[in-house]
Amino acid sequence: MDQSKSCKTFLYCLSIALLLSLPTAQAQTTLYQQLGASAGVQAITADLIKAARTDPKTSRSFAKINEPRLIKLLAQQICLLSDGGCVYEGENMKVTHAGMGITEAEFAGLVEHLREVLDQRGISTGAKNELLKRLAPMKRDIVETTKPEAATTQ
Ligand code: HEM
Repeated sequence: MDQSKSCKTFLYCLSIALLLSLPTAQAQTTLYQQLGASAGVQAITADLIKAARTDPKTSRSFAKINEPRLIKLLAQQICLLSDGGCVYEGENMKVTHAGMGITEAEFAGLVEHLREVLDQRGISTGAKNELLKRLAPMKRDIVETTKPEAATTQ
């Protein structure tokens, strides 16, 4: 009787230990994978730049860009930021955006485009919010003015 009880306890403990040792799906999936890895991030970036270039609220700064280059660098940066392990070959955010006179409203416009693109591509709310959270601290290096009129004179 005692032997069967301790045997059951042992099996119970063993199954708990096995369950605890199973890696969860969350731990296995990086944000980069949730964004669709290389192909997903490339597509998200290309859609974002296209949206930013065509919307009058954000298009001003993108008039003369080298689009393939910007897509490549932004994709590298999003990859790095989402734990995809890419090397970012571009300049830092402060130097890159210096003198563009980017406003709060333009920054918010770009974020809105990113939200829409992520929704259209079926990215989960959790992954979307995590990416936006990781991008948010860059705002202080990108936005130069809260005054829209300063931007239109450039
Ligand atoms: C978190 C937000 C943003 C991120 C992560 C970001 C990232 C980048 C990166 C990686 C580059 C290329 C760097 C390089 O050339 O070495 C870049 C360039 C640029 N960004 Fe941003 N950016 C952001 C917000 C904005 C906003 C709000 C605007 C304007 C509304 C903007 C306009 C531009 C322009 C015009 C370029 C230069 C493209 C060129 O000359 O080829 N960016 N940005």
